[in-house]
Amino acid sequence: MKPREIKRGVYWVGAIDWDRRLFDALIPLPDGTSYNAYLIQGSQKTALIDTVDPTTQDILLRHLDELKVTSIDYVVANHAEQDHSGTIPQVLAKYPQAKVVCTLKCKDMLTSLLMVPEEKFKTVADKENISLGDRTLEFIYAPWVHWPETMLTYLREDKILFPCDFFGSHLAATDLYVTDEGQVYEAAKRYYAEIMMPFRTHIEKNLEKIKDYEIDIIAPSHGPMHDKPEFIIKAYNSWVFDKPKNIVVLPYISMHGSTGQMVAYFVEALAEKGVTVKQFDLTVTDIGKLAMALVDAATIVIGTPTILVGPHPNVVYATFLANALRPKARFVSIIGSYGWGGKTVEQLAAMIPNLKAEVLEPVLCKGLPREADFKALDKLADTIAQKHKAEGFA
Ligand code: FEO
Repeated sequence: MKPREIKRGVYWVGAIDWDRRLFDALIPLPDGTSYNAYLIQGSQKTALIDTVDPTTQDILLRHLDELKVTSIDYVVANHAEQDHSGTIPQVLAKYPQAKVVCTLKCKDMLTSLLMVPEEKFKTVADKENISLGDRTLEFIYAPWVHWPETMLTYLREDKILFPCDFFGSHLAATDLYVTDEGQVYEAAKRYYAEIMMPFRTHIEKNLEKIKDYEIDIIAPSHGPMHDKPEFIIKAYNSWVFDKPKNIVVLPYISMHGSTGQMVAYFVEALAEKGVTVKQFDLTVTDIGKLAMALVDAATIVIGTPTILVGPHPNVVYATFLANALRPKARFVSIIGSYGWGGKTVEQLAAMIPNLKAEVLEPVLCKGLPREADFKALDKLADTIAQKHKAEGFA
């Protein structure tokens, strides 16, 4: 891809990573990603907004050459994570007069992560402005989207918001702007679920903080730009503020079929009562899809066999993730089978302190489920359906 002009003197100069399939050695990227960096040439000064993942540094440097950029005054680091900051040292080497503009916290992080020297920094306060001549950058502190040092940059005259990860999506695309809203909605929801959801209360504050800015374009540092910003702002508002929905998320493992029988029966029982169920076989699940389902679910039911004396390790992994992601779910339960005993319920219950959820009576059976176990599953399904109704989720 060549550099792309967004408005006069404002360019996309990022890199598209079509083939990346894993982020943070954890998060699946089914559609690749992009690292969007932006160049703003004012009448007096030039600023680069964020850089790119160091694996794609050559692309950014080539873009700057293609635009014949001889001088950069400011490298704005909205966020210290290396997929955006990792090429700062190379940019500083090429443009030695440039200053890195960031929050004080970000300076501390860039010093430790990239060893950027002290004299290269210009720290800015919340709402501070920097003039580029005919254009003004305003920096808006927005902590915890999704690290403590994050800020947004607003290009006032052009009404463009550069929010880095906030409002982004892991999606490689040649289209500069959102063209397929359905696809971008899915990718952005996945991104929100995996990266932003644990910081929902901070997101609330940051959504509030940008409410009064006139924004024509949101230019995130992953995925397509939004020339209809209300689309992504509305989506975020719904993910953050809406009540949970009449949904049960059911991640499970079955080794010899007993837990599998319980899951199949339970899913039917819930569906008959009008509850939507999203079940995930953890041997094959894309954890991003599981995270997305957790955005809206009112209830999480974990299905597990007992292995050694506790839950299956894949179930432990999924439970650990669900706890870390801090979804809105209000109810939790456990179903499954054991051979001779164990501490499955106690171990799983101890793993979810972050979930502000009521634990509903688990259903554990010895070996294959029998009539009494199916009745207990019916009862649990009934309880969930009633609780969802009582809370106004159904
Ligand atoms: Fe895209 Fe938090 O880095």
